[in-house]
Amino acid sequence: METISNPSQDQILKAAKALKNGHLVAFPTETVYGLGADAANDKAVCKIYSVKGRPTDHPLIVHISSISQLDKWAIDIPEYAVKLAKEFWPGPMTLILKRSGSVTNFITGGQEYVGLRVPNQPIALALLRAHEILGGFGIAAPSANRFGAVSPTTASAVQEELGCSLNDNDLILDDGPCVIGIESTIIDCTNSAPSILRYGAITIKMIETLVGIKVNLNHEDSAKRVSGRLKKHYSPRAKIEFGKAPKPGQGFIALASIPNSNNSIRLASPINLVEFSHQLYSALRLADSLSLESILVTLPEGDGLALAIRDRLIRAAG
Ligand code: TXA
Ligand code: MG
Repeated sequence: METISNPSQDQILKAAKALKNGHLVAFPTETVYGLGADAANDKAVCKIYSVKGRPTDHPLIVHISSISQLDKWAIDIPEYAVKLAKEFWPGPMTLILKRSGSVTNFITGGQEYVGLRVPNQPIALALLRAHEILGGFGIAAPSANRFGAVSPTTASAVQEELGCSLNDNDLILDDGPCVIGIESTIIDCTNSAPSILRYGAITIKMIETLVGIKVNLNHEDSAKRVSGRLKKHYSPRAKIEFGKAPKPGQGFIALASIPNSNNSIRLASPINLVEFSHQLYSALRLADSLSLESILVTLPEGDGLALAIRDRLIRAAG
């Protein structure tokens, strides 16, 4: 496996060819790094599951280069979903839609629905376009971590997570840290009103303001399987606790306005919520690299991005 930093157009083409030849390519997106495979190649998609150690009934998001590819993957698309796609793509939003005939069971975990996203990251978009020019139409990509672990927001975190499981012909594209740092908002668009399956940077308010329909928050009754909704997920080895006053030697994550105390080890002091999500996963990784036993987190208050950050942290704590 080779890591390519700041890939040139030629190197992106090489990565697209690797995908077409059935190899895996980890690539940056604005949310987290993804582990990509040609979405039309069942054998390649199967490799994702084995490399991640992920159960095969957990569906994968298909990444596409633009809204014009939507009809290849989905049918019966509601009007509000088209509005969302036009407004927020490319961007940190995944839409769950009824799948078209070209989608295989490998991608959807046997469900009738497919998750689609246009990422807002120049290398990701260039890779998607290059793959399309070679005849591909979509890259299936979960976060590039072992199942249940913290999503990687840098190429070195991908290396740390999956380096020993990737093959010689697989690639990691490195374009620096991900801007947003937590995974996309997942919106179930298979009912008359949108419902949120995973919180993210596209917030309830943004969705409701745009489509003029109340978001259904009672998503627990949705039968759709989202591994990010498992009670324990996104977990570091260090134990996560919540509160305001860390013990000596304990890792500490809180907004910068909350001071350090008791000789704790400050892992992140973001000045606002955008910085909080951007720094969160690297702070959790830092705790593990320092072999800390536990991390005290002061959860941010409020809705919007704060809701997404709390969701990840509560699941990370199990
Ligand atoms: O930001 C992101 O979404 C990142 C980047 C790489 O795009 N991807 C990501 O993928 O977080 P993953 O597989 O780690 O998480 C995607 C979640 C999973 O919990 C999966 O179960 C859910 O999306 N999902 C995917 N397709 C689905 C479908 N058809 N129905 C219900 N849930 C789906
Ligand atoms: Mg994931």
